Amino acid sequence: MNFKKYIALSRGIATYIPGLHAHMTQIFGTIFGRSARYCYSRWLRHLTMAHKNGFPNKPNVIAELGPGDSLGVGFAALLSGSNKFYAFDVVKYNNPKKNLKIFDELVDLFKRRENIPNEIRFPEVEPYIKSYEFPGHILTETRLNEALRPERIESIRNAIINLNNAEENEIQIFYFAPWYNSAIIKEESVDMIFSNAVLEHVDDLKYTYELLHRWLKPGGFMSHQINFECHEIAKEWNGHWTYSDFVWRLIRGKRSFLLNRDPHSTHIELMKKIGFKIVCDIKVKKVSKIQRKKMAPRFRNLSEEDLTTSRAFIQAIKKNNWAE
Ligand SMILES: C[S@@+](CC[C@H](N)C(=O)[O-])C[C@H]1O[C@@H](n2cnc3c(N)ncnc32)[C@H](O)[C@@H]1O
Repeated sequence: MNFKKYIALSRGIATYIPGLHAHMTQIFGTIFGRSARYCYSRWLRHLTMAHKNGFPNKPNVIAELGPGDSLGVGFAALLSGSNKFYAFDVVKYNNPKKNLKIFDELVDLFKRRENIPNEIRFPEVEPYIKSYEFPGHILTETRLNEALRPERIESIRNAIINLNNAEENEIQIFYFAPWYNSAIIKEESVDMIFSNAVLEHVDDLKYTYELLHRWLKPGGFMSHQINFECHEIAKEWNGHWTYSDFVWRLIRGKRSFLLNRDPHSTHIELMKKIGFKIVCDIKVKKVSKIQRKKMAPRFRNLSEEDLTTSRAFIQAIKKNNWAE
């Protein structure tokens, strides 16, 4: 008996009960429970990998897709020297009180040059890197002394309190939820876009990658961690590929998002087609225990590579022109 399937179905069907759906969204909005250390660890991995892959390591304008209930990863970027931060989500989870608490803790972590919390502390945060020492070769003393000036920290605090203030301040933070509108960000204005455990949830992947491409400056780059697992909706880690589209619709119910069920290769193909060059693609492999004959027809022909790729960390650069 596949209990997880029945629990997932019950939760999906429950979303059709008036009032309950909003209540559930409220509950699930609070369970991400991301701490300052989690955000610090996430950001420093994006940054370390960007440096390793030869990208500019001091992006001025950054954007995060799907920050969830804390904007902390972007705050860590601001504390590393970035000046403008766009965050966009499908659900408005933003919690001002939590944001300020996380921000104050982040300031403390940076001031102490604390090492990057490792895979024992956060097994779900990828990629695993060679050294978890504070990346002083990127965040040099000169850079941090400037980034952590008391007036600059105050300016970031003000931007957190006054989200979406378009006045010409030293630091600006914009938050859009829901966001599906290309006009929220000026074309070719962003240096770096990142996400953590989000792109597996996005319904319209092609449109989303197109917009990310449009917003990035030529030579701008993106950094994403994607989790292709079933998110507890099936017994096996890749059991969501056994559910028919009909069952999947019931499981999804009226939730604002669930999983798009697209495998790793779909992301890579879309990125390439839209005009990105993949610079790094670190895959986490897992044994697949599901039989092909049990898979839903549209997933039955997944390649062995897709079937066994459970997570990936991908960095890609916007090509300067289509011929490149
Ligand atoms: C598993 S949570 C991850 C949250 C956060 N990035 C973290 O690391 O904790 C997935 C997030 O993706 C967001 N999301 C889902 N579909 C999205 C979309 N189409 N555009 C932007 N965000 C989306 C959800 O609202 C949620 O905040």
